[in-house]
Amino acid sequence: MSETVLEVRHLSKSFLNSGGKETNEVLNDLSLTVEKNEFLCILGPSGCGKTTMLRCVAGFETYEGEILTEHGVTHGPGTDRIMVFQDFNQLFPWKTVEKNIQYALKLQGIRDKAVLKKKSDEALHKVKLDGYQNYYPYQLSGGMKQRVAIAKAFALKPGIILMDEPFAALDAMTRNRLQRKLLELHSQEGCTILFITHNILEAIALGTRVIVLQNGGRIVVDERNPIPRPVTPDSPGYGAFWTKLHDALYVE
Ligand SMILES: Nc1ncnc2c1ncn2[C@@H]1O[C@H](COP(=O)(O)OP(=O)(O)OP(=O)(O)O)[C@@H](O)[C@H]1O
Ligand SMILES: [Mg+2]
Repeated sequence: MSETVLEVRHLSKSFLNSGGKETNEVLNDLSLTVEKNEFLCILGPSGCGKTTMLRCVAGFETYEGEILTEHGVTHGPGTDRIMVFQDFNQLFPWKTVEKNIQYALKLQGIRDKAVLKKKSDEALHKVKLDGYQNYYPYQLSGGMKQRVAIAKAFALKPGIILMDEPFAALDAMTRNRLQRKLLELHSQEGCTILFITHNILEAIALGTRVIVLQNGGRIVVDERNPIPRPVTPDSPGYGAFWTKLHDALYVE
């Protein structure tokens, strides 16, 4: 039976424009329900409010409407919703790789050094970064930094992982490897993921469900991915699903 882990109810968000006088309504009455273990990919043109929506769910913004998780109505950030960004510089530069992960675990109340070490080692093992515990972020490649950010997110075992184009700045080969790693983690760890991407192929390869947003945060497509994993361009239904997403994305 499906179990709702996130409910966005009538979410609206406006920002003041640069003059500080008029408001710019970015999200207008967006409602969305996400079930446990879903891998929800979010496509949409630049500026349609994808990041804003994710930041509202993460608790980084004020907004109108309500956002509920398994624990009830959210008020601000919580370690039940972890965000992974596009930016390679999302780790603390003055902390080693393992201390970055352990810092987040400490916020969850874990104090025992042996437990912290075990958990950070396990997290790094999952993303094949064994042996890099004592490296600083500046000593890692972009792809390795993103792997640490993903390891950190999974180590916290949050109900929901929020990913804002985490692979967009990577080369195609690294991106492909990390996509496969993320699929593996998603099926092994049993978590719910909201994943923003500009890339239709990425959305089809990763998502169990794909939504397309247009301006105002209007949901114009909301479809279960009909293609079973692993998705290849030869998978039956691939072309039809791609066309549907493409047409919804490039409508305006
Ligand atoms: N802090 C802010 N102050 C004012 N306006 C903002 C702020 N953050 C976002 N906006 C505005 O909200 C709109 C949506 O921005 P958002 O970053 O959510 O878009 P996006 O869909 O993530 O785009 P992209 O695909 O380019 O990342 C834009 O018009 C942007 O200028
Ligand atoms: Mg964005």
